[in-house]
Amino acid sequence: NEIYLHGLGGAYPPCSTDATKLEASAQQVLGAGPFSYVAGAAGSGATARANRAAFDRWRLVPRMLTGATERDLSTTLFGTRLPAPLLVAPVGVQSIVHAEAESASARAAASVGLPYILSTASSTSIEDVAAANGDGQRWFQLYWPSDSDVCASILARAKSAGFSTLVVTLDTWTLAWRPSDLDQGYLPFLHGEGMAIPFSDPVFRGMLEKTPEEDMPAAVLRWIGMVTGTDRTWDRLPFLREHWDGPIVLKGIQHVDDARRAVEAGMDGIVVSNHGGRQVDGAIAALDALPGIVAAVGDRIEVLFDSGVRTGADFAKALALGAKAVLLGRPWVYGLAHAGEAGVRHVLRSLLAELDLTMALSGHHVLADLGPDSLAHT
Ligand code: FNR
Repeated sequence: NEIYLHGLGGAYPPCSTDATKLEASAQQVLGAGPFSYVAGAAGSGATARANRAAFDRWRLVPRMLTGATERDLSTTLFGTRLPAPLLVAPVGVQSIVHAEAESASARAAASVGLPYILSTASSTSIEDVAAANGDGQRWFQLYWPSDSDVCASILARAKSAGFSTLVVTLDTWTLAWRPSDLDQGYLPFLHGEGMAIPFSDPVFRGMLEKTPEEDMPAAVLRWIGMVTGTDRTWDRLPFLREHWDGPIVLKGIQHVDDARRAVEAGMDGIVVSNHGGRQVDGAIAALDALPGIVAAVGDRIEVLFDSGVRTGADFAKALALGAKAVLLGRPWVYGLAHAGEAGVRHVLRSLLAELDLTMALSGHHVLADLGPDSLAHT
């Protein structure tokens, strides 16, 4: 209502409310390198396109005369009430998009009451993001360093800065083949963007011969060497459990057997995700992976979802297919590019408002009303 009343009153939003236009105008606001980094996908872009196409194959089947004039979008995740099942996905190197970077997006998330997931590849330190997020809910996303002491130090810092839930990203043990970045000659990490967390970490700094300020390339390479590699396997998850006393969520699950292993490993949640099509070109659309995973483990672990959500209808479809909550990526990054905190807030609030209207018009009062019966496969 508030968004509509503002519009009818002649107030323009800080950026487009339409996801396609938002991306197109972000291209005008951002330089070619940052835009291609954010918008880009792995390889031919097949998985990024598949993520979107999968939503189109499902249609909502509206119900009438249900009296759904009052809706309740609230839900509970890991014992904490959320106003709506939406989280701000972890996105690294936000300084390439806006000068206020993660501080702006963390403030926006807090102002809407949604959990903010801070990326390990943040361009702002853990402690500064926590200060910006204030009494908001915050989760920490881990790019898992091979060095145990560095890993333990980062986790301890996140815990003491009030991050409640750990999200361990499993799909990024090396940078993916991203032709648009290569064509632009643009790899932000190699210039030290996204290194604020290791660069501010006393244990990591103690391992370097020269400080990052004295020899940035060496520090960057040391960190990249630590977060890439193949030695972090299922049997090492107990290490994370020992060093994190809150819920742990595995991000990047696409195979039913991996979802089962997450349950067996005692994890609290998973994010069904293909990283927005940015890692394995040709991978299954995340939405296509969701129903089988929900059927296999949905009653034993919290199943979250991301990759390709752009509208309230997409959001409703993911929930109807069994996602407990949804993470949003690129759209709010474009909001950040346009208008900092206000842009992120507009994108988040618009998606929530559109979900709310979609539920109202399709006869759903509460999230539990959304289920397989709400959809037809076309
Ligand atoms: C990401 N994503 C990501 N994920 C993660 O676990 N750690 C990270 O640092 C990043 N960084 C990142 C940067 C940029 C520019 C993008 C677009 C994405 C992936 C992100 O969390 C999420 O999985 C996808 O963005 C979801 O897909 P959509 O909503 O962008 O389609």
